[in-house]
Amino acid sequence: MRLAFTPRNLSRTSGAFVGLSGVIRVRGITQFRFQWRKYSTKEPPSPPTIQLEGRHYLIDEWTNLSSHISSALPRKLHLQPSHPLSITRRLIESRFPGPTYQYHNDLSPIVSVHQNFDSLGFPINHPGRSRTDTYYINKDTVLRTHTSAHQADTFRSGTSDGFLISADVYRRDAIDRSHYPIFHQMEGARMWSRDACKARGGVPAVIREEIESMPKHGINGASEEPLRVRWVEAYFPFTSPSWELEVYWQGNWLELLGCGVVQQSLPKNADIPDKIGWAFGVGLERIAMLLFGIPDIRLFWSLDKRFLEQFKEGEISRFVPFSKFPSCYKDVAFWLPSSSSAAGGQVSFHENDMMEIVRNVAGDLAEDVDEFTHPNTGRKSLCFRINYRSLERTLKNDEANSLQKAVKRVLVEEFGVEVRG
Ligand code: DAH
Repeated sequence: MRLAFTPRNLSRTSGAFVGLSGVIRVRGITQFRFQWRKYSTKEPPSPPTIQLEGRHYLIDEWTNLSSHISSALPRKLHLQPSHPLSITRRLIESRFPGPTYQYHNDLSPIVSVHQNFDSLGFPINHPGRSRTDTYYINKDTVLRTHTSAHQADTFRSGTSDGFLISADVYRRDAIDRSHYPIFHQMEGARMWSRDACKARGGVPAVIREEIESMPKHGINGASEEPLRVRWVEAYFPFTSPSWELEVYWQGNWLELLGCGVVQQSLPKNADIPDKIGWAFGVGLERIAMLLFGIPDIRLFWSLDKRFLEQFKEGEISRFVPFSKFPSCYKDVAFWLPSSSSAAGGQVSFHENDMMEIVRNVAGDLAEDVDEFTHPNTGRKSLCFRINYRSLERTLKNDEANSLQKAVKRVLVEEFGVEVRG
């Protein structure tokens, strides 16, 4: 891995204070514009930091956060009252009433590696921990990849038997109409004391009773097609047994939620060893796409009135597309540098690196990115098709060409690849 910075501006302010700003590149990708904090010329400069939510975080060789991602931190779509994600959140919350359930909707997305992974029993070699999948602020700090990151703390706080945590979560992932590097989840959990349930027929009987008495609603969603769902057995490090609920959407089975019986290590570590319970984590975009008939996950981020003004707090309405603008695809094929010529003798280029480059260059104008496989002749060759489309206007071919040129430039300059076409 390479970590380099390019000073952009050395400025002398008053007296002994000097400011320095520049650009941090990690593995070639421009990750962050940074500012050295002011320092006295008599003291050594403080190390580079990123400022997020008003706090400074040290940058290190794990940092892989792009400004496209960090600038979205303040959006908090799930808290905008007339936004479909907030309407969806409120609808689910209404089925899990207080005081049994407490809602936590404003927990910071910046969490420790311990909260996100260790506290949930993720093995040290779990792929979710890798820099290709997770946004690291530095080696100890990440943008939460799931709302489960708050389970252990919330169990320990012991302020209610049940809780719902709704929040933005961050994952380096594919670019297509159902994946976006930021999405929203709701974590639900409910614990019971085994002793307290004995007199009422045991925990399973109490749970059944409670399910019966939960508020019901008769919502079918805005889809014209009958809803097809299926339960699939699953594995999560923090539940056993575990399941996923999948739904059929645009020709594919999509995961809607994961759930299970909470691993006993969690209540034990939270000093409530007598308790047992269930937990789930549900993707709010996926529920909202079904409920409102929203065809592309990028729409949730739209600031276009034609999108936002279609929705009203407390109401579920079918999304009316304002128009389908034409798409424009461009291919890029390239050779990776051979491992012998690469720094450290190792070439690593992950599909998610490509996604990150495209996202940084094209933002929400990239609709999907597909990888094609080419016959391999010793050197590794990759080919990607990038589909550009604006959801709000017609994208000109010239504009798509210059985006494509910028993607190629980053590939060559930052990753040392040889573009073939
Ligand atoms: N955190 C999991 C994910 O993002 C979803 C999940 C699975 C949450 C099982 C849970 C659970 O609370 O019990 O994929």
